[in-house]
Amino acid sequence: MKTMLINIKELIQVRETGILKVSGAEMAVLPTIKNAYLLFENDIISDFGSMENCPNQTFDELIDATGRVVLPTWCDSHTHLVYAGNRVQEFVDRINGLSYEEIAYRGGGILNSAQKLNETSEEEIYEQSKVRLEEVMKLGTGAIEIKSGYGLTVEGEIKMLRVIRRLAENYPIEIKATFLGSHAFPKEYKENHAGYIDLIINEMLPKIAAEKLADYIDAFLETGYFSVEETERIMIAGKKHGLIPKIHVNQFTAIGGIEVCVKHNALTVDHLEVVTDEDIIVLKNAETMAVALPSCSYFISIPYTPARKMIDAGLPLALATDYNPGTTPSGNMNFVVATACIKMKMTPEEAVNAATINGAYAMGVSNTHGSITKGKKANIILTKPIHSFYQLPYEFGSNHIEKVFIEGKLIS
Ligand code: NIG
Ligand code: FE
Repeated sequence: MKTMLINIKELIQVRETGILKVSGAEMAVLPTIKNAYLLFENDIISDFGSMENCPNQTFDELIDATGRVVLPTWCDSHTHLVYAGNRVQEFVDRINGLSYEEIAYRGGGILNSAQKLNETSEEEIYEQSKVRLEEVMKLGTGAIEIKSGYGLTVEGEIKMLRVIRRLAENYPIEIKATFLGSHAFPKEYKENHAGYIDLIINEMLPKIAAEKLADYIDAFLETGYFSVEETERIMIAGKKHGLIPKIHVNQFTAIGGIEVCVKHNALTVDHLEVVTDEDIIVLKNAETMAVALPSCSYFISIPYTPARKMIDAGLPLALATDYNPGTTPSGNMNFVVATACIKMKMTPEEAVNAATINGAYAMGVSNTHGSITKGKKANIILTKPIHSFYQLPYEFGSNHIEKVFIEGKLIS
């Protein structure tokens, strides 16, 4: 099946040679072709260029994209999209003055979601989660990472990872799975951290590895959650089973977490609402990608990741949603891109790079996703008629997407 798009007003994020990520000043450069065509065959991009060189053949489908912009789909490298129920009461409690930390201290937060998850059947969790997945695909997400971490029991964690696998089997979207058993300490292990970490290492990890249920390992490295030393134990154990670390760190406090993540070659360090000058130096000398989650900052009113300072220091940065019931009940990457521009002072070019090629790197798929490159997946957003791609973040509350293709399939 050959699909041809012609008269594209501007084809965005065109990379002739496959790059894996962009850093620092490179992030301000977003290569495009004006008045372009794009051809894909089945699920793969096979050709693109200026309309002057458009091949004169017949195609199975011809789409006239006059006035419209085409860009690669978003790569959302950090989500907790699989969960049970909601935490709307905590949302109201925060409006009435409680902080996220106070709610968690009172037994709400992650433990609240864990209780709901363990009381809900695998089938029901799948049904609830697939609605969210279908929604974000229509919003232009074409590759997504999904974490466990609301089980916090052997059965609960495995149940979540099986739901993630079933989603990956049933939808034409690249899904990477991350094991986040170290999301919080269950109540019964509050005074016995070593006991819970033993459970993760001796019971959860071997089962997850045997069933090949995860690609990555995560932990919530934060004051009151997992310490630097505890997270280090988890990362070492995960790596023994082939799971690369992608770690929640520096959300509320800077306690030396980034350094230990880099020491263990973490693929990403995520959140980074609080970043020290030392953290920036550590990341400068690493292959680890920093991941910012601006809709989390927006929703729980915490600082935004200091993107300007980090990019100006030469670092790469990726953007992701953090879709979860507590801190970010939204999987809308369009909002993330707009918020990065509006609140973090990233230029539209930087934000698109962060949400496509760098997002792909942050989930280990930049060989196949994140840019318009021959041989990559035919993952494409076709906008409605717009004046330029700047309109996407500028009119932050509107949906400018007309069509989404994921692996060559029209998502409707
Ligand atoms: O990335 N910070 C840790 N984990 C999630 C939130 C978890 C929750 O509140 O359910 C996050 O923000
Ligand atoms: Fe998260």
